[in-house]
Amino acid sequence: MNIPHKPVLLKETVDLFKDIEEGYFIDCTLGFGGHSEAILKRYPHIKLIGIDQDKEALEFAKKRLAKFGNRVEFINKRASEALKEINVPVSGILADIGVSSYQLDNKERGFTFDSDVLDMRMNKNQTFSAKDVVNFYDRNSLEEVIKKYSEDRRYKKIVDAIIKNRPIDSNRKLSEILASIGLKDKKQLAPIFQAIRIEVNNELNELENILEESEKIARDKTILGIITFHSLEDRIVKNKFKEWARKCICPEEAIKCECGGNNQKGIILTKKPITASKEEIKENPRSRSAKLRGFMFRR
Ligand SMILES: C[S@@+](CC[C@H](N)C(=O)[O-])C[C@H]1O[C@@H](n2cnc3c(N)ncnc32)[C@H](O)[C@@H]1O
Repeated sequence: MNIPHKPVLLKETVDLFKDIEEGYFIDCTLGFGGHSEAILKRYPHIKLIGIDQDKEALEFAKKRLAKFGNRVEFINKRASEALKEINVPVSGILADIGVSSYQLDNKERGFTFDSDVLDMRMNKNQTFSAKDVVNFYDRNSLEEVIKKYSEDRRYKKIVDAIIKNRPIDSNRKLSEILASIGLKDKKQLAPIFQAIRIEVNNELNELENILEESEKIARDKTILGIITFHSLEDRIVKNKFKEWARKCICPEEAIKCECGGNNQKGIILTKKPITASKEEIKENPRSRSAKLRGFMFRR
């Protein structure tokens, strides 16, 4: 089987669940099933539900995980929606946020700089795509997307060039336009493409919703692991875990605690985010920006 995606932080992720109890493991971003396969092998006492909004990825993972028989079920939906339907005892949850190498490398999916389409949808049933963001967003909205998600200070110049060159119908054309204002190499282009992708797939809201739904379904000792690839995403996870770990939820200005100090939802398992080793980065450059954080709920 030719596997189109290499899971990041594989050992570290599997180890995070070392104390997992019997029950269901929910892989919110099944992708090509790399993490799920390793989890199923290492923890024979758990069953797994694999979620992916990308039908192609899900079909691949179904074949890969067929050897585990009825220990595995699949859901083809957005994770935040699928989590609402979970009514089994959950002992572990993983979200490896972002796009897979298959999606990134497959030119027809419209993620690559030289693709002949402008698309970037993880879910092909969604109608809203990069074409809408690039061609129909007004100046202010597009500036906000580029500024917030790429953190490139030249956002005004970038948006100006895009608007002047509309209509834009391919990533290739978008890359040429960006090159004409000096953004020539991959390092400069990547954050701009990433910003548009985050907007198309509503990635930050989706992450917040996954965290919220995970909290709702978690039981005592449920372990949650989140892998992110962008500082904005990591900040969301870090802050949410801190909020959950807080005993006292009184406002900062309160002189004395009035909430009872008994509000802790669990413990943070990773004081600092786990990142890829030099060896992994060398072997899989996409792991460079990956950060894994873990939390254990206590009820
Ligand atoms: C980085 S890959 C996951 C790779 C996977 N861990 C593996 O080992 O093969 C991310 C996958 O999650 C999916 N995905 C991302 N965000 C999602 C979401 N909010 N809901 C459902 N699927 C999502 C993407 O379609 C993609 O296939």
